Amino acid sequence: MKTIVVYESYWGNTASVAQAIAEGLGEGARAMSTAEAVGEALAGVGLVVAGSPIIAFSLPSEKTRNNMVAKPDKKAPSPADLSHPSIRTWLVALPHADASGGGAVVRAAAFETGFKLSPGGSAGKILRMLEEKGYRPAAKKQRFLVKGLYGPMKDGELDRAKAWGAELGKAVK
Ligand SMILES: Cc1cc2nc3c(=O)[nH]c(=O)nc-3n(C[C@H](O)[C@H](O)[C@H](O)COP(=O)(O)O)c2cc1C
Repeated sequence: MKTIVVYESYWGNTASVAQAIAEGLGEGARAMSTAEAVGEALAGVGLVVAGSPIIAFSLPSEKTRNNMVAKPDKKAPSPADLSHPSIRTWLVALPHADASGGGAVVRAAAFETGFKLSPGGSAGKILRMLEEKGYRPAAKKQRFLVKGLYGPMKDGELDRAKAWGAELGKAVK
């Protein structure tokens, strides 16, 4: 089944989780940034998995991104990667599932990266936005854990992401 694992990622953590999920899903799955997940990449897709970091307890907004440009974070190990649109913007532009799946049911799943004990989150909002576009949830939202404010991922989290991808693959078969 053609599957895309779409990510927004400033310091590479969410991108690495997306890559691990795609590996777990196996053949037919590809991790891609929001900039890549457009047009032909969406055609005939059967499962859309989307993920973002949790920033300020929620799904990053345009305001969050504008702040990153206006006040670059001096403590960050590298400048935030703002080369691809936010998942929020990507979801607004995402065609309805009827268009992407050629009329077939298209399934959806969402994940977030952040701290274990952080309130709020972003995956719930991502899943709701996917549902509003006609994508049918295939799994509960998932959080993958980072060690510090800018990552890296906690030990074992990429393996857990791969295993979650494999489970997802079975659920949508
Ligand atoms: C300014 C800032 C705010 C953050 N706010 C939260 C938060 O509210 N909750 C949380 O769990 N993690 C928070 N984090 C941690 C990020 O979610 C974490 O580093 C994330 O994995 C970054 O993913 P990325 O490398 O894909 O951009 C924050 C990080 C930064 C830099």
